[in-house]
Amino acid sequence: MSEISHKWLNGLPKIELHLHIEGTLEPELLFKLAKRNSIQLPFNSVNEVKKAYQFSNLQDFLDIYYQGAEVLLHKQDFYDLTWAYLLMCKQQNVMHIEPFFDPQTHTVRGVPFETIVSGIAEALADGKGKLGITSRLIMCFLRHLSEESAIETLKSSEQFTDVIYGVGLDSAEMGNPPEKFINVFTKAKGMGYKLVAHAGEEGPASYIWSSLDVLNVQRIDHGIRAIDDPDLMLRLIESQMPLTICPLSNVKLRVFDNMASHTILDMLDLGVCVTVNSDDPSYFGGYMTENFLALYDSLELSRDQAISLINNSIDASFAEDSRKKELSNLLQTYISD
Ligand code: ADE
Ligand code: ZN
Repeated sequence: MSEISHKWLNGLPKIELHLHIEGTLEPELLFKLAKRNSIQLPFNSVNEVKKAYQFSNLQDFLDIYYQGAEVLLHKQDFYDLTWAYLLMCKQQNVMHIEPFFDPQTHTVRGVPFETIVSGIAEALADGKGKLGITSRLIMCFLRHLSEESAIETLKSSEQFTDVIYGVGLDSAEMGNPPEKFINVFTKAKGMGYKLVAHAGEEGPASYIWSSLDVLNVQRIDHGIRAIDDPDLMLRLIESQMPLTICPLSNVKLRVFDNMASHTILDMLDLGVCVTVNSDDPSYFGGYMTENFLALYDSLELSRDQAISLINNSIDASFAEDSRKKELSNLLQTYISD
């Protein structure tokens, strides 16, 4: 039986359910797009950018992340960004992805909704055709903006329901509770979208409750604060409500002091449907393989735990049943070799 190693974790078939496409913008591509679009950056070198990626909290990160996204203007930019991520997925054997995009980050700068969606969707279609990676695209509303702005964004998506599969909620959590978005989530549900929301990343366990009971989401993004609330833990275990957890992100944004104190494996062992994801890999020091490796290095992730985490991701994904079966078979083949 193969032991856990970098090689084994990299080859392990993986599924990514919590990934902001804007958060995959590597410094090299940032410079390339800035040059292509004649945009002045406040940095002079890739090294300078990397040094700036030190964050004290979520807001610290968001400020630099939104600034980076300003180099994205044209359809080709969104295509190139998405394609670079897909190539990384191929390298790391990530076989199914459900990326987020933040339309408002771009539409406020005058980029048409269609430019954003068509660039991303074409790359995802090529990802399936050329790399065999399946996907479900999820549109997130920025929670620091108003619900009216989210509703306007939802309306813009009406012509693209063939390529957008779900809606989510991201950006600054504190002070922007799920209740602020009840109307837009109700409308999105009526349009047939799947629903997810960031909750309990920096915000309290009560935001997880209201994401479940007020917004009616089908997955919680992050959700690590659930561990503070025994009743909520019971609810999550009984309902097998998935949490898309992002270990490297949580340490980089100081949600945990270090990886050794991360609670993801405690939650897994208690029976919560937790999954591993990379969030904003360019900013947080790694993609899927690096997140698994971090759990192995700091928390002694076992082979059985790694396999359970992948099985949870398959169960929690919005892939069609036949694809879920295929993914399960691929996993079975890999672990029985
Ligand atoms: N947008 C991109 N990454 C995010 C995160 N970790 N939390 C909230 N909003 C985000
Ligand atoms: Zn996120």
